[in-house]
Amino acid sequence: MNSGYSYENVKVDVDDGVAWVRLNRPEKRNAMSPRLNHDMVDVLSRLETDTGVGVVVLGGEGQGWTAGMDLELFFRDLDDKPAERAVAHRESQQWRWNHLYTFPKPTIAMVHGFCYGGGFTQLIACDFAIAAEDTVFGLSEVNWGIIPAGIVAKALMDCVPYRDALDLCMTGRPIDGTEAERMRLITRAVPGDRLRAETEQLARRLLKINPEALRGTKQALKITRGMSYDQSIDYLAAKFAEQKYRDAEGGYAKGIAQFIDDKSYRPAHGPYSR
Ligand code: ACO
Repeated sequence: MNSGYSYENVKVDVDDGVAWVRLNRPEKRNAMSPRLNHDMVDVLSRLETDTGVGVVVLGGEGQGWTAGMDLELFFRDLDDKPAERAVAHRESQQWRWNHLYTFPKPTIAMVHGFCYGGGFTQLIACDFAIAAEDTVFGLSEVNWGIIPAGIVAKALMDCVPYRDALDLCMTGRPIDGTEAERMRLITRAVPGDRLRAETEQLARRLLKINPEALRGTKQALKITRGMSYDQSIDYLAAKFAEQKYRDAEGGYAKGIAQFIDDKSYRPAHGPYSR
């Protein structure tokens, strides 16, 4: 385990290519304070270029994943401090959405206990979300008189069906992991005692795949979401060329050679040997 990451509000362990990141304010149910968001901006910047990290898992210490934004430190305390509030909002948005959504390495949200309010931002931004079946998800904003702002309302509509989005946002009702899987808010709900193992299995599977192919693929899907067909065709052609140019291990040639010449693997059944 690599202990080079040291933060007040975030724990990071790097184990054989997987970075296990946990929000670490369990006494406040991992509510996201400005300081925690500041730490996470730095954590993600470093993980992006850490050559020992291929996959990032985002979890939470203690009883739950996150209780959302810190109502005291992120909201009320900053109401009459516009300069500090501007910085806090920028940093909160930066790591939870801008950076994470197109993070150049695969990301997995590993969710247990609960996920409320602003926690949906990083939940949706991650490429995969694996949750314990008994996790409680809730967009509780209306319960205390605000709207699901930041990017939550928009991101949710791009993730779950229209009727489910309105139901979650307008009633504030909690749902469990099984219902979250049904509406595709998460990738998969698993028994709580399997959460870590299932997450690790997925992470290890991703580590076997060409990292530049994964980077280009996730960015291709996420960026073209907001493009027209004409723009997407042009963007994807450029992205295809960019990925081959960036790929230091020459996956394109290696993959074809292992299939056509060596006959050592079948691309339909799994990745080439790196
Ligand atoms: N902001 C600030 N503090 C919080 C938050 C939060 N979002 N959530 C929990 N805490 C604090 C509590 O104030 C309490 O602090 P204290 O020990 O100093 O009194 C501590 O964390 C423990 O919380 P409890 O409510 O006592 O814990 P319990 O296990 O009973 O309940 C639960 C947990 C259900 C998460 C509850 O704390 C809660 O409803 N939190 C708010 C969840 C929410 O609605 N989040 C969305 C916020 S809006 C947004 O993100 C945009």
